[in-house]
Amino acid sequence: PFDWYREMRTDAPVRYDPSRNAWDVFRYEDVKRVISDNETFSVNPRIAADFEPADEAGQDMILDTMLFQDPPRHDELRDVVDEAFRARAVAEREPRLRELVDTLLDEAIAANDGEFDLVDELAYPFPVIVIADILGVPADDRAQFREWSDSLVAATSGESGDAIAEQQQESLQEMGMYFLSLIQDRREDPQDDLISRIATAELSDGTPLPQQEALGMCMLLLIAGNITTTNLITNAVRCFENNDLFDELAGDEDAIGTAIEEVLRYRAPVQAMTRIARTDVTLGEESIDEGDRLVAWLGSANRDEQKFDESDQFIVDREPTEHLGFGHGTHYCLGAPLARLEARVALSALLSRFDGLAVAETDLSPTRSSFVYGVESLPLQYSG
Ligand code: HEM
Repeated sequence: PFDWYREMRTDAPVRYDPSRNAWDVFRYEDVKRVISDNETFSVNPRIAADFEPADEAGQDMILDTMLFQDPPRHDELRDVVDEAFRARAVAEREPRLRELVDTLLDEAIAANDGEFDLVDELAYPFPVIVIADILGVPADDRAQFREWSDSLVAATSGESGDAIAEQQQESLQEMGMYFLSLIQDRREDPQDDLISRIATAELSDGTPLPQQEALGMCMLLLIAGNITTTNLITNAVRCFENNDLFDELAGDEDAIGTAIEEVLRYRAPVQAMTRIARTDVTLGEESIDEGDRLVAWLGSANRDEQKFDESDQFIVDREPTEHLGFGHGTHYCLGAPLARLEARVALSALLSRFDGLAVAETDLSPTRSSFVYGVESLPLQYSG
């Protein structure tokens, strides 16, 4: 999409797209404003002029989560889990994360001979297991949990067909029931885990967080952090391969950390976020009406030549940048410290453990999920 973004930044930085019935926004400053000016732009799809409630089960539950709520409701919901995702809390998990990655790589090596799919073996299961751990899903239920996640990913990545859609609905419902019973358990018998925190949370008026919202929060944490982190890891490997960086980065975790920031800029796993205008507003030279939808292209903002020198170059040691890969402002990614840690741990283990690492296929199929940028699978070869 990057050539298209570049053209649009010059020719039509804010433009109406009839096929999506939305305004596309391409320049850094405009994108940043649209995603962070809560007074003017809302995350709540229900206020869109063309909003039509779907009768899909679960729609209300998802739209009631922090991701789709404006302040003050947003802040109240985010406060319930904020602490658990701060950098300090997340850092305590580092040893456990390293162990997990080692185990997954051991399994990949044992099951394959000189080649394995990075998505199947590491980039996908790793974040799923980590978030299950943080929530407090009992180890015995892990396999079942993984099955549901697999089926959700298969479906959201757009393999069309009613069978898959049906399967997805089924998994979503089963998973919902599972979490609901876990929430009920923990309400009565709280443990030292995040589900207990969510299950027993009180809002500022002293009332308990309603059960549907507790459930929505668990589902959001699961969905928001999985395919995104998978893609950060695989996008990083592709950037490293294209720039011949495997050897240079191996063993240097600081350099890997810096490189991950550049991946988040250069190949952002989330390319766009949507907003709804709360009032009539002028953006660039365009007049946008209250209730209109906007698509803020983070992936284009991250390549804006007005903001970044040599914006279309992957510069592995680029000075810390203000990329928008995790968004900006009130809705800045809750999971950013966790995603950064997961990516650093996964990539450093990968680069240290294998000699002669190389991407085995050049014809990679893109993730088929709108606004998510990555590949479906990434076969890797190694010599030792
Ligand atoms: C929000 C990207 C990983 C949970 C966001 C937003 C972006 C983003 C762009 C802003 C949404 C908006 O402005 O409307 C990413 C990327 C990730 C990642 C690129 C991985 C590389 C995670 C993880 C979690 C997570 C691991 C798990 C906890 C969330 C939540 C929000 C969010 C709950 C909503 C925050 C709010 O509304 O206040 N993420 N994310 N994300 N992310 Fe992430």
